[in-house]
Amino acid sequence: MPQEGVRQSSQARIILGIGGGIAAYKSAELARILIQRGYSVQPVMTRAATEFITPLTLSSLTHRKVITSLFASGEDSTAVLSSAIEHIDVALENDLLIVAPATADLMAQFAHGLAGDFLATMHLAFTGPVLLAPAMNTNMWNHAATQANLRVLRERGYHFVGPDAGDLACGMVGAGRLSDPLEIADAATAILNGRQDLAGETILITAGPTQEAIDPVRMITNRSSGKMGYAIAEKAVKRGARVILVSGPVALAAPQGVELIRVESAEQMKNGVLEHLDAASIFISVAAVADYRPTSPADQKVKKTASRLSIELEPTTDILAEVGRRKGDRIVIGFAAETQNLAAEGKRKLESKNCDMVVANLVGPNGTGFEGDDNEVVLITRDKEPQAIPKAAKREIARHILDAVLDLRLSARAAKR
Ligand code: CTP
Repeated sequence: MPQEGVRQSSQARIILGIGGGIAAYKSAELARILIQRGYSVQPVMTRAATEFITPLTLSSLTHRKVITSLFASGEDSTAVLSSAIEHIDVALENDLLIVAPATADLMAQFAHGLAGDFLATMHLAFTGPVLLAPAMNTNMWNHAATQANLRVLRERGYHFVGPDAGDLACGMVGAGRLSDPLEIADAATAILNGRQDLAGETILITAGPTQEAIDPVRMITNRSSGKMGYAIAEKAVKRGARVILVSGPVALAAPQGVELIRVESAEQMKNGVLEHLDAASIFISVAAVADYRPTSPADQKVKKTASRLSIELEPTTDILAEVGRRKGDRIVIGFAAETQNLAAEGKRKLESKNCDMVVANLVGPNGTGFEGDDNEVVLITRDKEPQAIPKAAKREIARHILDAVLDLRLSARAAKR
């Protein structure tokens, strides 16, 4: 579901869909909070919702005509007389669709793409993020059909808040209560502002290849494009982190908001990392650092005189292992580029380099995993089963990696308590 490019905070426009349930009265409070935060709010009510709360309440709070029907009815002076394409206009003009309360019926309509009334039809034409706040009887919530619809909608990237557990209007106790309007508004703000869940973190990232000089014009390097590391850096900034990117030579522009340190050799990369390590709360080692470098690079161009030529190599510093030794409270993530035995090699590097997670990826003979726009990885941690992330764009893989980093941060915090 496209979420980038939504208007930020107070200029954002929200459609507030209201389903027909007892909790519908709470949508008035939600509308009030959203208006107070400076959002413009367009209420859309299902016919059933109007039995629980009057459109007049919502139009008074939002200063908007409330949309209740696909067709002109003329019955209700506060309801707008919808034109045939109004659902498209409303869908195009707004940044976020909230449905509160989202009834079992609305969830089913959304999951199955039905277009029975204005809200459901407009929902189909809407391409922005959708936030559902379900409210219903516990048995209805637990019903296999509702749970299946929930799974479908989650898989499509819909956001959910609640339902909460507690006393329900029907007399039962259990899951099904509409979340607090403030909580729903907070979830909406978080979506509109982009997820700022990495705010407060300083993430030090290495990316790209290194170049090890043989002589002034020749070098040893590898096929790394830097795309994976740059994608992580870009996403991390968008999620609120301060990002320091120590990058080998690549043909990529610095992502906006990232502090970029350009280096060439493994030695320079190590120095760049160690210089900024104190500031970092998270280290992600994506770079394809050369394991060896020529022992004594020639000062002048090597001439074609010898019939055979050997270049003596010596190991470079393993930057990740070095950071692992100085780990402290940091979360340390390594990569493992392998041509075989992905999981076993990933696990070995997790231990030997003292990482919290290793992202293992297959690299192929023609640069797959290194040069392409897509990647396919396995996330290996100490406590969980390896998590395979199917082939996807590197930006999408970056999101999964940062989600896993956040999980590690939350578990580390919980363990400290
Ligand atoms: N790495 C590093 N410094 C090095 C070599 C590797 O920081 N001198 C990091 C990489 O950034 C990556 C991880 O170590 O996060 C694993 O790199 P990889 O090349 O897969 O493994 P190696 O340790 O070099 O082992 P091998 O080449 O034997 O597979």
